[in-house]
Amino acid sequence: MSTFKTVRGMRDFLPEEAKIMKYIENQARQTAELYGYREIITPVVESYELVAAKAGEEVRARMYAFEDLGGRKVALRPEFTASVARLVATTLRNEPKPLRLFCVGSLYRYDEPQKGRFREFWQSNFELMGSEKPEADAEILLLTNRFMKNVGLKNFTFKVGHVGVLRGILSQEGLAEETQNQAMQRMDKKLYDETLKIVKESGASEKGVQTLQKLINLRGASTTKVLKDMAEAVKDYPEAINAVKNLGEILNLTAEAGEKLNVKVEAGFARGLEYYTGIIFEVYVPELDIALAGGGRYNRLVELFGGEPTPAVGVAHGIDRIMLAIQEQKAKINVKETPPVMVIPVNENLNAEALKTAEMLRAENIPVELEVMGRKVSKALEDADRRCVRHVVIVGEKELKEGAVVLRDMQKKEQRSVKIGELAATLKRQAS
Ligand code: HAM
Repeated sequence: MSTFKTVRGMRDFLPEEAKIMKYIENQARQTAELYGYREIITPVVESYELVAAKAGEEVRARMYAFEDLGGRKVALRPEFTASVARLVATTLRNEPKPLRLFCVGSLYRYDEPQKGRFREFWQSNFELMGSEKPEADAEILLLTNRFMKNVGLKNFTFKVGHVGVLRGILSQEGLAEETQNQAMQRMDKKLYDETLKIVKESGASEKGVQTLQKLINLRGASTTKVLKDMAEAVKDYPEAINAVKNLGEILNLTAEAGEKLNVKVEAGFARGLEYYTGIIFEVYVPELDIALAGGGRYNRLVELFGGEPTPAVGVAHGIDRIMLAIQEQKAKINVKETPPVMVIPVNENLNAEALKTAEMLRAENIPVELEVMGRKVSKALEDADRRCVRHVVIVGEKELKEGAVVLRDMQKKEQRSVKIGELAATLKRQAS
């Protein structure tokens, strides 16, 4: 047989990397707990129709979609939001609102593999269902800020925009939703000339096109100034005016919460997913030019899936990219690991005794690695040394007759006989 490697775009995580991924996942779980989000687990395989409905052109084209053996058109989930909205539209339909739901897991998109872009990747995802208030949007921004801080990242910024501003103009200009989606997809890819062409050719007025052009150029770190300029630019479009106000309210709330969020408002910012109706945002660090997280408000998705009208806002954090950012910034991660104790039998006849000793220690929550290679004590000790093991328990005939084993401290290079009944307590004392 030929030798196998991973399928293009798929990766193995070796222990060091798996440790960082799990650390980030645990931080996300702690954030969920801090903000009252309950964890749910949804399936990797979903109906194609569900995940394709509002995924947008780009994600839709990159879906792992296939027919299962029962003839169903299914897809590997490219994101979590559609699954959570499905749940809220069906099983959780009658749950009191607000509903705060958290999930974490793997997602699949047939993206072109490159730094930070994989075909299998991981997200921690937060959805707040049932509130249309700016406090809800602010909560999603604040929890993202806290999570990024808690994983140890620095200098991250929030790129922020509002779909309501752009759609407000396009709707008033009479563009059908499908055409709006096409225009927004181009904006997401920063293909501004193409965007303006679509808008022009769809019958928008000269003023409409100019307003859009103005917004595309409007961005900056002074939130107050950009918002003021945005309000001025859209003054003839009532829906868009309300959207600018809404954005201002949300950003004021986060500032009033006492957290200095590093925000850059971009009036012409759009995202590929098509369900957004309000604020949208992405998180960046200076070391990488890809987003670490993305989210926003989507008020019509649950209803589209047959549920009650349910305003909602959420965010997904890209765990793989956060790991990259941690590595780029050389951020220290704080993972508590208890080094294992090694148990070595002096000869084969003592294998069962060694196993018994190992199990006894594990029952006391002491991590143990047993010598399973049948090596001589001296060889096994060399290996323990190489792997920086601190304590070794040597099970020998002479000591066993007295109900004892040898406990060796690898750092001090000292060893002594310890009664088996006292071994766990002795090890615990030395570890503390
Ligand atoms: P998204 O922007 O498509 O949003 O993905 C969120 C994050 O997932 C990205 O910022 C990135 O960190 C990570 N990500 C996406 N694609 C890849 C990839 N190919 N390789 C590695 N990481 C990737 C959503 O998925 C929305 N469901 C977010 C949301 C939740 N909106 C409302 N609620």
